[in-house]
Amino acid sequence: MSAMLTDTSFDTLSGLLKATSGLVIGREKTYLLETRLTGIVKREKLNDLNHLADRLRMPNNSRVARDVVEAMTTNESFFFRDDRPFQHFRTQALPKLLATRPAGMPIRIWSAAASSGQEAYSLAMTVTDLKAACGDRKIEILGTDIARDQLARAREGLYTQFEVQRGLPVQHLMRWFRKEDGKWRLHDHIRAQVQFREFNLLADPSVLGRFDIVFCRNVLIYFDHPTKARVLDAIAGVMRPDGLLYLGGAETVLGITTRFAPVAAERGVYSIATQPASVPGSRVPQPA
Ligand SMILES: C[S@@+](CC[C@H](N)C(=O)[O-])C[C@H]1O[C@@H](n2cnc3c(N)ncnc32)[C@H](O)[C@@H]1O
Repeated sequence: MSAMLTDTSFDTLSGLLKATSGLVIGREKTYLLETRLTGIVKREKLNDLNHLADRLRMPNNSRVARDVVEAMTTNESFFFRDDRPFQHFRTQALPKLLATRPAGMPIRIWSAAASSGQEAYSLAMTVTDLKAACGDRKIEILGTDIARDQLARAREGLYTQFEVQRGLPVQHLMRWFRKEDGKWRLHDHIRAQVQFREFNLLADPSVLGRFDIVFCRNVLIYFDHPTKARVLDAIAGVMRPDGLLYLGGAETVLGITTRFAPVAAERGVYSIATQPASVPGSRVPQPA
């Protein structure tokens, strides 16, 4: 990139990201804009980020704006990330739901920032492992993300050696994947258990239906306090009263919303609070 990013250009880019995806970028993260947006600057035959910002201030910029948002998302994910949430889901959450939900009532699970699919597929593998306990119960797993390129990857279910080495036990690799041109292809019956759909967490999730389990991991860290509160409250609004929410290791509901309460002795697992009180700065989201 040649010219220094002006304050006006920075405000245009950071304003777009905050308004459309919730992502907060401080001035000290200018280097991130530079590294991640170079491809778009080149593709659009622009000189530098200032020209990209100029372009975003012009009409008919929605395609470029979308690409900018997508390029700025951090999509890192891996199978069975942090392990503990998946153990809790396997040994506590799912068995309890199977025991308490009326027969014939589907159990619905939402991977709310699904990225390239590893989280949703880890849940599908766990459900398949517990097939005997699940019987013919319908278990729906929905993976959503704002980034369309990641959703395409998720649907494909094709992962590199590096990606499957991160967190996936070798017996799972052998059982659920097959080698294909140096990569690893997830078996169709695991892929078929997960639906992927584009969804922006700033929008109203009631269009997705109600959920028993929500994994919303490693995305709230990119949002500011009011956005975290807005997203968490909206998630609470689509969860069944005995549902569970799983957050990432660096995320919490504490001090952000009282719609959730921590599950005792389980870091990162939250139940719906029985009597929510209001937290300053938290507000009920308006439909998008
Ligand atoms: C770091 S990944 C987390 C993936 C997975 N949940 C995990 O923990 O491994 C964060 C994901 O959040 C998505 N994301 C960021 N902002 C979003 C928004 N406003 N709505 C939906 N997804 C968003 C990004 O596209 C990215 O794929």
